[in-house]
Amino acid sequence: MKILVINGPNLNLTGRRQPEIYGSRTMDDIIATLRHDCPEVTIDYFQSNCEGAIIDRLHEAGFGGEYAGIALNAGAYTHTSLAIADAIAAIGTPVVEIHLSNIAAREEIRHRSLIAPVCRGTIAGFGELSYRLAVEAIMKF
Ligand code: DQA
Repeated sequence: MKILVINGPNLNLTGRRQPEIYGSRTMDDIIATLRHDCPEVTIDYFQSNCEGAIIDRLHEAGFGGEYAGIALNAGAYTHTSLAIADAIAAIGTPVVEIHLSNIAAREEIRHRSLIAPVCRGTIAGFGELSYRLAVEAIMKF
């Protein structure tokens, strides 16, 4: 089974960026731990700070059944990108929305997710465990 993890803007800075919110472990560490803890799954990883690149990757991965699911942390595009929401709605592969922080407990502008209605579900607020929970959910689809 293959699962694709996609991270959006600024998540490449995880570990250095506002560690009190996003934790002090780097995304390389988080993905390495995920792969170590889920050896039965092949976890591909993609990160981009560019909206169009995220959409292109969703299109590439979203047809043909290569991936059982996509775990997507769209970063701030979560709250702004109708284009990413449209891409998720367009593809056949299920997408799980993930966030390190509990977006519902933060500034009001982060309460609205444009992608939530087109995702299979949302996991937020568990730090790096959000990634693990998304992978476990996809494994059970
Ligand atoms: C985030 C939450 C977003 O509001 C924020 O813009 C991010 C990270 C999270 O993982 O908690 O960049 O998606």
